[in-house]
Amino acid sequence: MQVTEEEIQIIARLVKDLCGVVLDQTKGYLIESRLSSVAEEADCITFSELYYKVRYANDKKLQNQIIDAITTQETLFFRDNSPFEALQFKVIPDIIDTRAATSFPKCIRVWSAACSTGQEPYSIAMVFHEIIPDIHNWDIKILATDISDAAIRQASLGCYNAHEIQRGMKPELLSKYFIKKNDGYKILDEIRAMVAFQRLNLHEPFTHLGSFDIIFCRNVAIYFNDKDKRSLFNRLADVLTTDGYLFVGSSESLTEFGPRFIPQLHCHTVLYQPNKISTAIV
Ligand SMILES: C[S@@+](CC[C@H](N)C(=O)[O-])C[C@H]1O[C@@H](n2cnc3c(N)ncnc32)[C@H](O)[C@@H]1O
Repeated sequence: MQVTEEEIQIIARLVKDLCGVVLDQTKGYLIESRLSSVAEEADCITFSELYYKVRYANDKKLQNQIIDAITTQETLFFRDNSPFEALQFKVIPDIIDTRAATSFPKCIRVWSAACSTGQEPYSIAMVFHEIIPDIHNWDIKILATDISDAAIRQASLGCYNAHEIQRGMKPELLSKYFIKKNDGYKILDEIRAMVAFQRLNLHEPFTHLGSFDIIFCRNVAIYFNDKDKRSLFNRLADVLTTDGYLFVGSSESLTEFGPRFIPQLHCHTVLYQPNKISTAIV
């Protein structure tokens, strides 16, 4: 199905309203390649028809199909590696130290915001397992959210094919934390049990989720405009604890979003502690 210049504009506005993803006038090919089958399945013969159907019939299923199709779910286990080293060697030890003086010394809350198909939160869970020997005595919960229903469904299953496993899974962790299932692998129940999956649009309020010691929000804001990025990272900072850490994607920088975002470099990865009064500038 071919998209006209005018349809690019209305579909881009629709997509921005549904999930905040910005499509400029050069993204006609993306609309054609990702939304043609959605439009056809909905019996639309043009993209304008699809637009009106979603806008005025308020068809939630169709809205979700568009979100699933237009968002990029690219992810892998231990993506970029260095954030997981910083988690292991700096962030978790720091948080354990600061928790020791509180009334909840063994309680840690983590949020993987925009978790895609689950590789990120499961990688985080495996790091916790690796470094806390008596993990069964701890209360560690990882909330993993994404706007895509399809991604959340797949993530909840915890099943990955050989190709997905080859992308980033360390062999020693594969044999420790997965069992073979059909042609692929399934994450062990004890890792699965650490993660709760939920659909969530990051453009909507999320203060009801409570506060977190660690937030991973990587490779999603790159699809948003600057105003939405600034708002998102400030709202994420608001739900971080005083010493809480924020991880972003390797190509993302928050320094322009205000003085609370002072970059720290640990294990070759940039981290932020937006609520900590004095943070080292590196
Ligand atoms: C490229 S993946 C990143 C996955 C993972 N964080 C990583 O770095 O490997 C981007 C994810 O953001 C999700 N996403 C896009 N817009 C979103 C929104 N408004 N709210 C929540 N998730 C969104 C997509 O569904 C997709 O799964």
